[in-house]
Amino acid sequence: MTQETETNFKRHTITAALPYANGPVHIGHLAGVYVPADIYARYLRSKKEDVAFVCGSDEHGVAITLRAKKEGVTPQEIVDKYHTLIKDSFEKFGIEFDIYSRTSSEVHKKTSMDMFKKLYDKGGFEEKTSQQCFDEKSNLFLADRYIVGTCPKCGYDQAYGDQCEKCGSSLSPSELIDPRSALSGDKPVLKETTHWFFPMDKYEGWLKEWILEGHTEWKANVYGQCKSWLDGGLAPRAMTRDLDWGVPVPIEGAEGKVLYVWFDAPIGYISATKEWAEREGKNWEDYWKSDDTRLLHFIGKDNIVFHCIIFPSILHADGDYILPDNVPANEFLNLEGNKISTSKNWAVWLHEFLEDLPGKEDVLRYVLCANAPETKDNDFTWKDFQTRNNSELVAIFGNFINRAVVLTNKYYDGEIPERGELFDIDKDTIEKLKAAPVKIANALDSFRFREAMSEFIDLARTGNKYLADTEPWKLIKENPNRVKTIMNIGLQIAANLAVVGKPLLPKTIDKLCGILNIENKFWEEAGSIDLLAAGHKINEAELLFEKIEDEVVEKQMAKLEATKKSNQEETAVAAAAAQTQEPEAVEESKSQITYDDFVKLDMRVGTILEAEKMPKSKKLLKMLVDTGIDKRTILSGIAEHFSPEEVVGKQVSVLVNLAPRKMMGIESQGMILMAEDTDGKLKFIQPSEAVAPGSGIS
Ligand code: 2FM
Ligand code: ZN
Repeated sequence: MTQETETNFKRHTITAALPYANGPVHIGHLAGVYVPADIYARYLRSKKEDVAFVCGSDEHGVAITLRAKKEGVTPQEIVDKYHTLIKDSFEKFGIEFDIYSRTSSEVHKKTSMDMFKKLYDKGGFEEKTSQQCFDEKSNLFLADRYIVGTCPKCGYDQAYGDQCEKCGSSLSPSELIDPRSALSGDKPVLKETTHWFFPMDKYEGWLKEWILEGHTEWKANVYGQCKSWLDGGLAPRAMTRDLDWGVPVPIEGAEGKVLYVWFDAPIGYISATKEWAEREGKNWEDYWKSDDTRLLHFIGKDNIVFHCIIFPSILHADGDYILPDNVPANEFLNLEGNKISTSKNWAVWLHEFLEDLPGKEDVLRYVLCANAPETKDNDFTWKDFQTRNNSELVAIFGNFINRAVVLTNKYYDGEIPERGELFDIDKDTIEKLKAAPVKIANALDSFRFREAMSEFIDLARTGNKYLADTEPWKLIKENPNRVKTIMNIGLQIAANLAVVGKPLLPKTIDKLCGILNIENKFWEEAGSIDLLAAGHKINEAELLFEKIEDEVVEKQMAKLEATKKSNQEETAVAAAAAQTQEPEAVEESKSQITYDDFVKLDMRVGTILEAEKMPKSKKLLKMLVDTGIDKRTILSGIAEHFSPEEVVGKQVSVLVNLAPRKMMGIESQGMILMAEDTDGKLKFIQPSEAVAPGSGIS
């Protein structure tokens, strides 16, 4: 926040992504969202700003119903269990939300239904009946997430129907090559259903102006992702789902359907604010409908489109709400070189960390912030955790505070001594002390939390070096007056660390305030060299941090190794099981189509002129095909079945009027038709004798 915005805004609504209540929170969530959001909210509170910091559990969506099914319990039982676990672990860790609510609350149900209804009444949705992917075995329409296939952009064969976790591309199920249901493994069939679509395409122009022209200050990763969405063009999005768990769609003819979880989840921020305002005797509308309120969304990069494009369009369509002023999304945190994965249990779970390493909450907070994935994905390692604790928190910050406090107790019975004449080294140190809060504030104002943490440690380093250079322990006998000045300055640095460190390391600073015998101070006092008056009495020293021994991190690493091993064993068991399974039955035929439907297909015989494997893709072949009409590029997911040499010269059947589609940056202009045998082998569909390229198939 610049000086200008600070005066423009009267209050701040800070949201942190609502975690799904179908699993615990891990360090990736903390580093990406909750630690920065909490630091920012605490920083604003320290500046006496009016803040509503809201969060809660995201309790809807198909993932929760599936988890419940798997565990043989109800979805409500699942969300109750994880809501409590997540809420408790956030609290213990020191994330200080003003409210941690949940989307299964009555307030939320009403708020999201009202919002949907208001948009509906305004004509804000398009009702469409369409064919959707349906898993017959599971008797469920498949959410995009539950369709798995090969990513057309990078060739990753476990991409989801909404996103490829390998290259980060956002996808739709129809783009996946070789799609299959993640639930049963079957190929999904298409089944008719009616849904209400929010016409994102209609907001494209407005979004371009609002983001691409109006928010050039957003973080490069956020702005870049928005630009690529907007450049790619937006399509209407269904805001309802066929599911029996969620907020009912509040209109006639939609019985049995619920709101799309990404429609209701962000509204959860509003519902949580309502609940909080009611409790605190405030007016929630001030925090959502007033132009002098600054709305900020803290999220991870996978949530950018929802918070920068879809939710703002919904708020804009409603017309009564403010829009986010910034969305400081982070990239991802990896763990020991691998992507954090809930399903593979490759994670450091917050609730387990709190149990395994009690009292080390701020060490984790420090490490996650110092190494936050602000501009690119970053890696968490237990070795780095140990090193940063031992050589930064213990050796610099902890050591400095300990020295200053122990010496004050020893020389002055804990009373702050008077400052006397200042020498150059004192003046230089005071300059640094005064500059630090400004640097930290600048970093925080621009969401550069790593830099803020590093400036904080630098201030501790300044204090440490000052004591090491002036060596008061050597002067105490011969020049006691000089030592008084040194100790006074050292203690003022310690007190300043307590002020500027409060948003960064709150539990440690509470301890430090206890040692210094001071109340928490506000940011406006930072930079002062009179935070501790002469004669003020401090308490006995207490260690702020302890050295972490090798065994501690080795134990954590062994825990991860065990996870890896059990994953490998599971994969081996699954592979063995797959080999002993009966061959799948031939799929049932699809629903009838009319002759008119059929003649829409322009199928011709073509000849493959050239073929090459797509770089970085296991499945895709890029081919130049003579269709008789033209020579065009077609990409096909057959590289695991045919080598490029094998296919060149072959006559094949081509669907030539299929809309072109970009895959991995190359436009594919048509589709080569293949027959898939029951064992999954692919065969070309060819004329029995050579014909001229372009011969029609009918
Ligand atoms: O990605 C997630 O974990 C979602 N549950 C985040 C929701 S954020 C907001 F919109 F509620
Ligand atoms: Zn991909």
